[in-house]
Parts: sequence; structure tokens; C-alpha cells
Amino acid sequence: MVTIKSKKEIELMKEACKVVAIMYKEIEEKIKPGMSTYEVDQIAESIIRKQGAIPAEKGYNAGIRGIPPYPASICISINDEVIHGIPSKNKIIKEGDIVSIDTVALKNGFNGDAARTFMIGNVSKEAKRLVEVTKQAFYEGIKYAKPGYRIGDISHCIGEYVHSQGYSVVREFQGHGIGKQMHEDPGIPNYGKAGRGIRLEPGMTLAIEPMVIQGKPGILELDDGWTIITEDGSLSAHYENTILITEKEPEILTKI
Ligand code: MF3
Ligand code: CO
Repeated sequence: MVTIKSKKEIELMKEACKVVAIMYKEIEEKIKPGMSTYEVDQIAESIIRKQGAIPAEKGYNAGIRGIPPYPASICISINDEVIHGIPSKNKIIKEGDIVSIDTVALKNGFNGDAARTFMIGNVSKEAKRLVEVTKQAFYEGIKYAKPGYRIGDISHCIGEYVHSQGYSVVREFQGHGIGKQMHEDPGIPNYGKAGRGIRLEPGMTLAIEPMVIQGKPGILELDDGWTIITEDGSLSAHYENTILITEKEPEILTKI
């Protein structure tokens, strides 16, 4: 069911989203080569909690038999890891890495969801272009995030833009509605046909999240039940914000 948020609910959504925005600002300053992804998780969790919020990914149950609940506060995926990388004391961030972090904060019963890909020190020209194209794919997509358009218009635009840049989109995971639940209807694929899907209406809150692969589109899941990597070993980047559909231009809620 697609939920339309009331004025009051939108205020609460904004608060949850601001928690994540502040977290990324602080993480951007703190993330350094030599740190483990576990250390980043600990820092992220404390930034979320000090704002009176809860890291909603911790204990998240995908509802798939045999898959354990997600064990950490953030997902942190390096280079050829696409999404859902589990923080670990053994995973050390190096100069030249691209590090995708995806976090959901729960505050006052509402969720805010965003992802960023950080470039650690000097990264290759190709890695930088991938990160920039992934971010731009979000901005291209939200040109259609307003009344008069449909979900498929956003999806189509993201897919076309990414392909025009010589990259692939991940097809197995998608953006989503968000609110009291981390994942609400509608699903928002990063590819598809224009003019399809539900009509966009003011009061919808959506997490738009292009996941882009430098090479071929295939992915693999690791034995931990969570980590997704590229099949061809090429790099991958992720960029996500929670947005609000309004009468006019969308509002990006997870940015400050
Ligand atoms: N934050 C992710 C998303 O963008 C979901 C992560 S799955 C979890 O939808 F288990 F880590 F929560
Ligand atoms: Co999301």
C-alpha cells in the first residue's frame, strides 16, 4: 500500500531524515584510510543515537528463511561490493577505495534512508567518474519526481542516463516508498519503461537509490547471506536520498 503522509507525518519524516544527513556530514570528515569498517559502524551508530534515533538496519529481518537478521547499524560496501556489506574489524579501508555506506535512522516511528559513496584519498579517474555518474543518476531521476509523472518515468530516466554513460544498473534491488516502514510500496527500479507504474502524488515519501556497476550488470551474494558483489569484479557505487513529492519540485529530506 502506498502511504500519503499528513503534514504532521511529514514533519516527523523530516526529523528522521535529518539524522542521516547529519551522520553523513560527520562521517565524511572522519572516514580515513586505515580505519576498519567496524570502526565506521561504531561512529555512525553513536551519531545516530546521540540524535535520539535508532539505527533501523540493526536486526532488520529480510524475511527470507535461513538469512540472519542484519547485524550492524550501517551497510558498508567497498569497491566491487555493491550493497549490504557487513562491517568487520578485518576490513580495512585503503587509500583509493570507493566506500558505499547505506543507513536508515528510525526516529519518532518514522524512517529516513540514504546512501553515499565516499572516495578515499586519491581514487582513479574511472572510479571518480562512476561515483559522479551514480549521484547524477539520482538527480536525473528526480526530474520526474512530481505530480504529472509516474514511477516508471523516474526508473526509465535513471536507467537511460546510466547506460548512456557506459555503465550498468543493478536490476535485483530497487528504491522504495518509506515511512513507518523502512520499505513501503511502491518499488522503484532503476530501469524500466516510461509512463508505467503509479502516478506520483504530493505527500508520498520515496527512497530513490541508483546502484551502478562499472562493468556488466550481474551480481553475486556472498555466503554471509547479505553482501552483494559484482559478478565481473568491477567497481560499484550507490547514491540514495529520501525525497518528498510536493505540488512542485521534490524536497530532498536526507540532505543538509
Ligand atoms: N538501507 C537499505 C535500503 O536502501 C536496506 C538495507 S537492508 C538492511 O533499502 F538489512 F541493512 F537493513
Ligand atoms: Co533504501
